Amino acid sequence: MQHRITLNPVGATLEAAHGAALKDILFEHSVEFPCGGQGRCRGCRVRTISGNLEINDAQRERLTEAELKDGWRLACQCHVEQDTTLELRQWDAAILTNETAFSFTPQDGIGVAVDIGTTTVVAQMLDMQTGAVLGVRTGLNPQARFGGDVMSRVQTAVAENGAQQLQEVILRQVGALLHQLTTSARVAPESVRRVSLVGNTVMHHLFCGIDLTPLSAYPFEPVNDGLQTMSAASLGWDSVPDAVIEFLPCMGGFVGSDILAGLLATGLHRFERPSLFVDLGTNGEIVVGNRDRILCASTAAGPAFEGARISMGMRAASGAIWKVARVGDSEEITCEVLGNAEPTGLCGSGLVDAVAVALELKQIKPGGRLIKGDSLPLRDPVEISQTDIRELQLAKGAIAAGIKILLKQWGTTSEDLEHIYLAGAFGNYIDRNSARRIGLLEFDPDRVQPVGNSALLGAKVALFAGEKGSDEQQEILSKSTHISLTADPEFQDIYVDCMGFHQPV
Ligand code: FES
Repeated sequence: MQHRITLNPVGATLEAAHGAALKDILFEHSVEFPCGGQGRCRGCRVRTISGNLEINDAQRERLTEAELKDGWRLACQCHVEQDTTLELRQWDAAILTNETAFSFTPQDGIGVAVDIGTTTVVAQMLDMQTGAVLGVRTGLNPQARFGGDVMSRVQTAVAENGAQQLQEVILRQVGALLHQLTTSARVAPESVRRVSLVGNTVMHHLFCGIDLTPLSAYPFEPVNDGLQTMSAASLGWDSVPDAVIEFLPCMGGFVGSDILAGLLATGLHRFERPSLFVDLGTNGEIVVGNRDRILCASTAAGPAFEGARISMGMRAASGAIWKVARVGDSEEITCEVLGNAEPTGLCGSGLVDAVAVALELKQIKPGGRLIKGDSLPLRDPVEISQTDIRELQLAKGAIAAGIKILLKQWGTTSEDLEHIYLAGAFGNYIDRNSARRIGLLEFDPDRVQPVGNSALLGAKVALFAGEKGSDEQQEILSKSTHISLTADPEFQDIYVDCMGFHQPV
């Protein structure tokens, strides 16, 4: 028997077989399952407007009685049993591309740069003679149905057949994007000469079929993370039959080729004075270095910046409060909502702003406790809870501590930095004053340069550079040392200190 599922606010209607897992159906409609559908994160909440969905123990544990009564369910725990109308909390994901100009040596043919993120995939096709962008295609990373963050992918990969499944879905997805690019731009498949891919270490290993077991346990060091070169035929990509496929090498630990590409894009490795590069996400990657020496590290910041594990958190999509500001010197606040919609939650940048404003208004103590009550109302019905503030403290503490430790180990200070680069989607939207106020990025906001999707720009640089590119990549790798932050004897003290909210200097 078939049932009809209507999705609000996207307005889509689809057919589903009786008993089908809602997770599989919604995944096709870009809904993400941050904990891989294990009923732990609440990230997949949907509200039943009409019809009914079952309630199980996992939902009783994760959802309040009021939420259950109001129709909220965890989509990953439900099956289709009747016609149902659902309100989705996540939709309309924004995916960053990069159109920044860069210098290159013209070459014949077409190239495609691909950034495989944990959540999204972006492919950009270029005319290698002129550098003109011929097309861009974006999509969600289909591995997300197996878990939202890199560690859940690693866990899936080390289980039986897991790695193969994860590899298959990403090869299919990138292959489909390449096919769409060549057909829409009407380029001959044979003219595509090169495809350069970048991604974090887990994406690199999964794509290339490299064993992830070493990344599943301490000391979390990959065994083979070098440049991988493949033929299109070996990947089953007949839309680019003659292309050389290259996945750029990783830098060490969880610091992948997306960060190497970020360095290629910013030129951090060419400056005399040290610079800082920070990529903010579920995993924060940090680099400090100059033309002589580069240190890199990653830190598990948790999903707070992406709105997950926050009681009313959501991705930067319609309905999300993404900016919170104080009205003059008063206690009144204003909230900006994405998509000009009624607010349904808040995304990472909204959370950072809200806490920064609350600190200004002395509603939060330096240790993180709310002065009054256990929640802060923003705009009805959105509020932040004490637990949300704790989640933010863990995330920002991990990043701030990572920066402090790398600066210390490199032997420099924030005043001496030539550039401070902030990469990634979150880095693009976050208010730098608020980031400073909460102690996430303790720098003069004017010194912080958002660089957007520097991974994609670096992949484009790599496309054009050919052999020279390999030399430049090798040069960066030979100067780089991967640091384990937790091995630093002062890590614990610095981390605890960074979790607090001190007045910025
Ligand atoms: S609770 Fe459903 S994906 Fe995490």
